[in-house]
Amino acid sequence: MLRIGLLTSGGDCQALNATMRGIVKTILNNAKEPVEIYGFEDGYQGLIYSRFRTMTWQDFSGVLTQGGTILGTSRTPFKLLDTPGADGVEKVPAMLQTYHKLQLDCLFVLGGNGSTKTARRLSDEGLNVIALPKTIDNDTWGTDVTFGFPSAIDVATRYLDEIKTTASSHGRVFVVEIMGHKVGWIPLYAGIAGGADVILIPEIPYDIDNVIKAIEKRNADGGRFAIVAVAEGAISKEEAALPKKEYKKALAKRAEKYPSIAYALAEQIAKTGREVRVGIPGHTQRGGRPDAEDRIFATQCGVEAARGCLEGKFGYMIAKVNNKMCRVPLKEVADKLKYVDPKSDLVREAKLLGISFGD
Ligand code: F6P
Repeated sequence: MLRIGLLTSGGDCQALNATMRGIVKTILNNAKEPVEIYGFEDGYQGLIYSRFRTMTWQDFSGVLTQGGTILGTSRTPFKLLDTPGADGVEKVPAMLQTYHKLQLDCLFVLGGNGSTKTARRLSDEGLNVIALPKTIDNDTWGTDVTFGFPSAIDVATRYLDEIKTTASSHGRVFVVEIMGHKVGWIPLYAGIAGGADVILIPEIPYDIDNVIKAIEKRNADGGRFAIVAVAEGAISKEEAALPKKEYKKALAKRAEKYPSIAYALAEQIAKTGREVRVGIPGHTQRGGRPDAEDRIFATQCGVEAARGCLEGKFGYMIAKVNNKMCRVPLKEVADKLKYVDPKSDLVREAKLLGISFGD
């Protein structure tokens, strides 16, 4: 008997179900023994509190195109892993107990950075774990792409497309805030795909004077409207220059005054006399169906993870590097973020095209 467990952890994304389908189909098609499948509910919470369902291939039939996660998800912060919950439950021992009680041969963890750190911890505790790189943010170190990222780019791009028509009618400046946590992958890609005039990302701190100059130049060149795609984590040059403690204080002060960075920027741009509006696609960037690219990558991740499990190899994250599927040891991935390289070809090309990064 081969007993496998699945869980989806952290913020959801569009291709979680497609990935699980890839794992389950491949295992069922290729295992030399009967397979038992356990789906843990709401991420690590299901493992901690032994909340699971036994599943069959039918549970994964028709889910390729279905966004969200059929298992449910939740955030179980890594830094609180060794702090007992309000109910006194010790999380790591409880997870080990559930794993051993079910006599699992492998636990598949579909998660982002925090969830992968927990996966590493469980692997260090002796469990057979395989992690799969989920997040719309694409900030997972060790892989060129994460599932969720392609679909999120698509949603944000469509949002920019739609904002453009109304921005054009009214001759307005729109500041569109795009997700990505501490990195700028989605705003960079969606900004280029959606024809933004200015793209502001955390990796390239901006100077507000340069942002305004870029808008005015576009206006002088005959552009009636302008689109600023700003990462939710973007920072100004002044903020970036502050020592860590002061920097945190400055961000907290900004958060007291404005609901998010787009509003702070809009206020500064409006001082030029231009009519400015804010647009925030928010969680729609994680919602809806996975696009074709995501479905293919998610399926590849699932197939590779299942292949590893059938070979009896554990303790790594599935990745794609230079267009090749591979396995990166968990100890190498679990503590780093993957940032946009400000000197990358894509940033250089965007600048040559005339997009301002405000630097
Ligand atoms: O990590 C995915 C993400 O959507 C980030 O882009 C964003 O900063 C965060 O999650 C939002 O978290 P929550 O779903 O808890 O609001």
